[in-house]
This record gives sequence, structure tokens and C-alpha cells, in this order.
Amino acid sequence: MALVRSASLAFGVVINVAVSFVVFSFLDLLDRALCYVYRAADYMIESEWKPCYCSSPLEAIDGGGGGSSILVTGQGEPAKVVRLSSSRLQLEDVSDTLYSRPPLVADVSKATIRRLSRGGGGGGSGSCSPVRPCHKARTGRPGLRVSSDIVEMLKGRIVGMKPQPSPRWSDCSCKVCTSWTASTAKSLFVRSAGAKAAGMEEDVIFIHGFISSSRFWSETVYPNLSETAKSTRRFFAVDLLGFGRSPRPTDSLYTLSEHVEMIEKSVLDTHKVKSFHVVAHSLGCILALALAVRHPQSVKSLTLLAPPYYPVPEGEVAKSQYVMRKVAPRRVWPLIAFGASIASWYEHISRTVCLLICKNHRLWEFLHKLLSINSIPMFLLEGFFCHTHDAAWHTLHNVICGTAGKIDGYLDTVNDSMKCEVNIFHGEHDELIPLECSYNVQRKVPRAKVRVVEKEDHITVLVGREKAFVTELERIWNGSDSSVINGHQES
Ligand SMILES: *[C@@H]1O[C@H](CO)[C@@H](O)[C@H](O)[C@H]1NC(C)=O
Ligand SMILES: *[C@@H]1O[C@H](CO)[C@@H](O)[C@H](O)[C@H]1NC(C)=O
Ligand SMILES: *[C@@H]1O[C@H](CO)[C@@H](O)[C@H](O)[C@H]1NC(C)=O
Ligand SMILES: [Zn+2]
Repeated sequence: MALVRSASLAFGVVINVAVSFVVFSFLDLLDRALCYVYRAADYMIESEWKPCYCSSPLEAIDGGGGGSSILVTGQGEPAKVVRLSSSRLQLEDVSDTLYSRPPLVADVSKATIRRLSRGGGGGGSGSCSPVRPCHKARTGRPGLRVSSDIVEMLKGRIVGMKPQPSPRWSDCSCKVCTSWTASTAKSLFVRSAGAKAAGMEEDVIFIHGFISSSRFWSETVYPNLSETAKSTRRFFAVDLLGFGRSPRPTDSLYTLSEHVEMIEKSVLDTHKVKSFHVVAHSLGCILALALAVRHPQSVKSLTLLAPPYYPVPEGEVAKSQYVMRKVAPRRVWPLIAFGASIASWYEHISRTVCLLICKNHRLWEFLHKLLSINSIPMFLLEGFFCHTHDAAWHTLHNVICGTAGKIDGYLDTVNDSMKCEVNIFHGEHDELIPLECSYNVQRKVPRAKVRVVEKEDHITVLVGREKAFVTELERIWNGSDSSVINGHQES
């Protein structure tokens, strides 16, 4: 009986691999084709195309509106981009997964060649030929060189750059989506609750995950807060840069530092926050860690829900590539992995998806109401619909993949130089981010408490169990957190 089951399981895996190969090989071609379609469409509608990451990296990065960027990289160093816009010159990290995403066929044949050449034993170790370049060279960043191009660009191209139209034709231009353009402050949209006056002892900052919004917290946590909590603390839930009602600049690369600086500017500075608790979900956990290590003395507690932490094996040079393959394995099943793979690997296909759902979000919201689909709450859908492709694409690569080399350092800082409590919640059946990720965090920070929430997934770790979760949160904020609450605790 067990034999039959394991045989059928293996069969399922084989089917998944085979179907995935066919589907993703087709998507590779489709994405190439869409590249030309969008070039033509952008040129016709905006009379200028914003270069995509299919083109040479230099050209793509150079395309930011209202300024110019130059990609520079040293041997073995993470890629850096020098951005030059009207008022700022800064070094920013971009992920190499933005411009280096080999098609599946090439990937598979590369792996085969590697296996054959290893098995064959010939060729002499350490020899790299142009036909079969050595592995190290291939995992590097192809075609990236700092050259006289930079000098050329400094001289000529910066002057006279036209700002990108905002919103772009493929983005939504409704009132909600463009509300940020009316304000001059250009800070994040923040939903606050709780005490009105400053000078309270502690504040709480909520950071949502990928393609979500502040309503992920304001619709779940806020209504369940106790009166005591509401009268003694202030609560701030942000819409991240490029998401919800926050600004969606077309000249941003949505890097980790841009996201974090916007949170600092819009919450810490604006509301004079001195010490605070952080609660974050999914991708927001990376931002929470980055924020925490910048303010180690101010953080009272860190609560992470499903943190996407994939430790990179030692000796792996292509860290971002490694993480991208973990997050987006190019498999058709489970469905959530399929979605993540489309979003990460295909710039133009994901732009098309965004064109269909984000640009038409009012239609989808109307249909949702009309058909009264109550199983998916409206606020989740809204978070899913309200962003630009530019924001989602860059955030996914620059924050999730591009930070692969940094998170270890953040966690070391949390372990060694910070005293705050670290609590992690993870749905037992989370199909997007495996439970292993949370245990990996705990391996780096042994004082972190991991709570496996039984039978729940990536979303229902909070949605649907709001009251229980808020009670746990308030205990954490109170510092009176007793060890076992709702679900077993691992250590
Ligand atoms: C907690 O929040 C949920 C979702 O907003 C709501 O349905 C529920 O009534 C709230 N519970 C309490 C006790 O307020
Ligand atoms: C974390 O901190 C503890 C106690 O300070 C220390 O014993 C441990 O080695 C640290 N762990 C890591 C992974 O650095
Ligand atoms: C947190 O502390 C406040 C006052 O110190 C208390 O009223 C409240 O019941 C506590 N909440 C929890 C969940 O422990
Ligand atoms: Zn809109």
C-alpha cells in the first residue's frame, strides 16, 4: 500500500516536472514576443520606450525617467547602480536577477553539460574555453562592464532626459491610484489608529507583504485591539512605496533602501516615533529587519509572519539567483508557486497580468461585489490590484532576491547587538514560504520564538484568526508573553 502511494507520488512529481518544462519553455518564448509588442505599444502611446531588462543592462537601467543611472560592478561585488537625477546622486543596490534570467531550456542544457563534462572526466580541470566557459564565469553577470560608456553618458545623456509620464499608459489612472500626485510631501500613505497624542511610550509599525496594502492590518488587527492598547499606543500601517495609495514614482528602482527610507520619513520622522514595535508579513519582514538594524536601540519587539529567509549555501556566488530559484521554482504546481514564477521570471508577461488586473481593478472590484464572492475579503483583493508593474517587478527582485547577501548580516545584528524579543508566526500549510524559512531565522537568532499555526497558510496565519492573533500581539507588546499560546511552540 505504502509502495503504491510513494509510486503515485513520484509519478505526480514527474508529471509536474514534465508539464512545467513545456509550459515554462513556452512562456520563455511568449515573453520574448511580448517584448516587441510592448516596445511598439510604448512607442506608439508614449512616443518613447522605456528599455526593459531584455536589452543590455546598461540601457535598461539607464531608462529611469527624470534622471540617469549607470550600472557599475566590481568582481564578485554586488551590482551597484549610480543614480543621477536632478537632485540626488546615490549608490543603490540592484538585484542581478533583474537582467539575468536564463530561459529554462538553456538552464537545463547547461546543467546537462555540467553533468556530462563532470562524468566524462576529460577536458582537464580548471580549463575554461569560450565554448564551454567555466562555471564561475557563467554565474557571474554577463555583459556587465564599466566602460567609456559611463563617461559618455555623464557628458551627454543626463542633460535633457524627459521624465516618464506618470501614470504610464499601462497603469491605472483612477482617483485612488493617482491620489498621491496631489500631495507635495510624497510620503507613504499611512493608516493610523490608537492614541492621538505623541509622547506615548511606544508605537507600533505594521509592514505588509508583497502586493498587499496597509488594509491587511487595518481590517484585521485594528478592529480587534483592546481599549487599553488603543489608549496607550499609536499604530501605523504603511502602504509601501509603489503599492496601495502610496506614491508610485516611475524613476524609482524600488530598492531596499528606498523602501526603508520612505518608512523612516513617513512614519518615524513625521510622527516623531521614538521607540517602536514592528509587525511584518512576508516580504515586509525583510524591510522590518533592515529597519530594525538601522534603529537597534529603538526597537522594542520584532514580530515576523512567514519571513522569506533562504540561507544561501556557503560558496554560492550567485546569491540572488539562488534565492530567485527558491522563491520561484518554475513549477506549475502548487498554483501559488506558479504565480510567483510568472511574477519573477517574466517581465513582459507579468506586465500583461498587471495590465489586466491592476489597470482594470475597478472592474474586478465591481464583479467581486456583483457576484458577492465572500470567500476572499475585498481588502485582500484591493491590495492585490493596486500597484504598478514597475513597483511590483522591482520590489520582488531588489528586495527579495537582491537582499540575499544581506539578511545574514541583519540577523547577526539582531542576535548580537539587540535585546528585543523576536517572535515568528508561520502557517503550517504555507505553500508560498516553507516553514523551514522560520526555523532558519531561529537558527541565526536562537532567542526567536517560532510559533507554527496549525492548518493555516500564508494568509490565514492572520486572516480568519484575528482576535487570537491580536491577543498574542498585545502580550508581546506588554512584554508579558507567556511561553505557550495557541499552537505548539518549537525551540
Ligand atoms: C476582529 O476582526 C474581524 C475582522 O475585521 C471582525 O470580523 C471581528 O468581529 C473582530 N472581533 C472583535 C471581537 O471585534
Ligand atoms: C547568537 O547569540 C548567542 C548568545 O549571545 C550566541 O551564543 C550565538 O552563538 C549567536 N548565534 C549566532 C548564529 O551567531
Ligand atoms: C497589557 O497590559 C495592560 C496594562 O499594563 C493590561 O491592561 C492588558 O490586559 C495587558 N494585555 C495583555 C494581553 O496582556
Ligand atoms: Zn486605480
